[in-house]
Amino acid sequence: TSSVGFVGYRGMVGSVLMQRMQEEGDFAGLDPVFFSTSQAGGAAPAFAEGAGALKDAYDVDELAKLPIIVTAQGGDYTADVHPRLRARGWDGLWIDAASTLRMNDDSVIVLDPVNRNVIDGALAGGTRDFVGGNCTVSCMLMGLGGLFRNGLVEWSTSMTYQAASGGGARHMRELLTQFGDINAAVSGELADPASAILEIDRKVLQAQRGGLDATQFGVPLAGSLIPWIDADLGNGQSKEEWKAGVETNKILGLSAEDRVVVDGLCVRVGAMRSHSQALTLKLREDLPVEEIERLLDADNEWASVVPNTKDATVKALTPVAASGTLDIPVGRIRKLEMGPRYISAFTVGDQLLWGAAEPLRRMLLIALG
Ligand code: HSE
Repeated sequence: TSSVGFVGYRGMVGSVLMQRMQEEGDFAGLDPVFFSTSQAGGAAPAFAEGAGALKDAYDVDELAKLPIIVTAQGGDYTADVHPRLRARGWDGLWIDAASTLRMNDDSVIVLDPVNRNVIDGALAGGTRDFVGGNCTVSCMLMGLGGLFRNGLVEWSTSMTYQAASGGGARHMRELLTQFGDINAAVSGELADPASAILEIDRKVLQAQRGGLDATQFGVPLAGSLIPWIDADLGNGQSKEEWKAGVETNKILGLSAEDRVVVDGLCVRVGAMRSHSQALTLKLREDLPVEEIERLLDADNEWASVVPNTKDATVKALTPVAASGTLDIPVGRIRKLEMGPRYISAFTVGDQLLWGAAEPLRRMLLIALG
């Protein structure tokens, strides 16, 4: 059995990763060594009995003993430790959830149901850094793989509805606290069916503009939305929007000539852990809707087409339906008025599963052979 080092296994993404690995019995095939940035010497997690004490995640000599390291510790950790480890001569496999190394020439973005060929080629060619993609991009490609992988997309725009979890655990708590505080501001009026709705609305707005704790998001999210995610690149684009284009093309392994243009606006909404996105795609061919649906559904075992009816859509194509599952529902597929090669689509995915943890655990299994 191969030794594998795990860093950042207690954070939100790390916890989901550990949970998935236990569910799938992944630990049976490996010898885990757990690292901590704060509790070296403490006990390894209970689910990995016999793993020994926690090691110091900043000790590059300890890290360098391992042929494979999986980290969900975050970008600052990667930026600090990865270069030191490589400089020390370590040539093991680094499997990372953070975006730090994603666009490096010598890294691969892992999403094996979509780019197993790219991963296998890179492993054979000596690539050592394997990085999970941006959650929105990964969920989009899992849902729309049937079109992107068959070279059928000329361009695509994705308008997103991103969940609080993309910001982190504290952001999820903040959203729920805001919902609670808003409710508390009007609970008396809500209990009275005769109270005036405009008065309730006024009080809600007063709470949103005044009293809500918005330390994490900066502005209230509950009962509102935030049409900007991640850094301002200074050219009108957010970093999250930039990622959509560059990462999609890198995952698909497309050259500059074959590049698909992907761009759109990224928006935070008050969902918990599933990102949704509304897409407009211009196809290279005029395909019948039935054929498009067949390609999407058949592309991988997790993408599933939701019939474009009201009943099916409201039931199956929502964050509430998708969260906590590996399913990537994709629906609202129809030809748009712009012409026969323009279609709409809507897809939803759990950003902690396919958006973060799942591609990493699958990459680990690929690496372990
Ligand atoms: N940047 C994403 C978001 C999460 O804020 O929703 C990480 O991919």
